[in-house]
Amino acid sequence: MGAATAAGLAAGPAPIAVVGATGLVGELLLDLLAEAGVPARAVMALATERREARAVAYGSEQLAVQGLQEDTLGRAAVAFMATPNEVSAHWAPWAARRGTLVIDKSSRWRMDPAVPLVVPEVNGHHLVPGVRLVSTPNCSTIPLAMVLNLVRRHRALVRVVVSTYQAVSGSGREALEEWAAQARAEWAGIPAPPPRAYPAPIAGNVLPQCDVFGEAGFTGEEWKLMRETQKVLDSPVPVVATAVRVPVAVGHSESVAIQCAAPVAAGEVRAWLSDAPGIRLADDPAQGIFPTPREAAGTDDVWVGRVRSDPYAADTVHLFLSCDNLRKGAALNGLHILAEAIRRGAISA
Ligand SMILES: NC(=O)c1ccc[n+]([C@@H]2O[C@H](COP(=O)([O-])OP(=O)(O)OC[C@H]3O[C@@H](n4cnc5c(N)ncnc54)[C@H](OP(=O)(O)O)[C@@H]3O)[C@@H](O)[C@H]2O)c1
Repeated sequence: MGAATAAGLAAGPAPIAVVGATGLVGELLLDLLAEAGVPARAVMALATERREARAVAYGSEQLAVQGLQEDTLGRAAVAFMATPNEVSAHWAPWAARRGTLVIDKSSRWRMDPAVPLVVPEVNGHHLVPGVRLVSTPNCSTIPLAMVLNLVRRHRALVRVVVSTYQAVSGSGREALEEWAAQARAEWAGIPAPPPRAYPAPIAGNVLPQCDVFGEAGFTGEEWKLMRETQKVLDSPVPVVATAVRVPVAVGHSESVAIQCAAPVAAGEVRAWLSDAPGIRLADDPAQGIFPTPREAAGTDDVWVGRVRSDPYAADTVHLFLSCDNLRKGAALNGLHILAEAIRRGAISA
């Protein structure tokens, strides 16, 4: 996280509620807030109301996990919702109506025309004073939109075709635990428990189904990537996606073909991407340098490489990207939204 982002967050409004604090995204949000220097007393960790006492790590301290209720969330100046859709459906507008700035990670509000869907590097201008509910895009949409936004500054986009390689952590903690149990069973040569997170075992497998099948044979995840990218870019550019789950813990990757309105060369695209905030060009295949999810995991950047001109179409380039789905794909983008909202005066520090 940049120094300016951290300073903005540390000086930002309090208290900050992390709702879904026991989940993968919530846990990372807490780590990032602690790293940014936000004091523990300014942060509330909220999750399902439970009888047993629970605590989560906050830097070197522990925060008691409190139940999500009106009298807990109602005290927050800022709320990160890292919760399932049905929880965000009720609580995000409830808190926003009370004046809390709600930054929602679920997909519930993303395509609502009244709710901005924000990647600050692309469309931070939506964070105007008075905005109270902001949605953060799908973890595959964010890196794709960042790359396309840089290309379209130089060439109008005609069509984008993308295939994803999505990590298991994108489906939450239970999916990760299920994958681990399947892998252990496979190595031990014993039958694995039946799959619950996905339609088939993910251990030793590749699943061309993320989410459920829907309109025109595309899955919900594919439609999210297609429609959310258009909303973030504020462009009707056709985006056609195939979303695939792979047995990787953290780090979504994407193979992207970008067709432009005029000829475009790989060298030009490399130049447009190098030095762009949040992008790390890793593109020297002869030296074994290209993005991988393992390398991208734990970093803040969208790693881009394998940039190639299409040998058959002068208007098209191909590239490969990897990005930590929990960081820039989720928690970190939420923090960037808060920092940008403070910077633009959408919320007073
Ligand atoms: N994982 C990713 O890469 C990623 C990326 C982009 C977006 N997202 C979205 O971010 C959200 C969180 O994802 P995740 O991967 O962190 O999921 P997760 O690991 O399954 O965590 C879900 C969290 O929500 C809490 N929760 C569930 N029901 C609740 C309720 N009724 N009231 C209060 N808290 C409740 C859980 O608390 P308990 O411990 O009390 O059950 C847990 O803290 C989801 O909407 C997901 O689609 C995830």
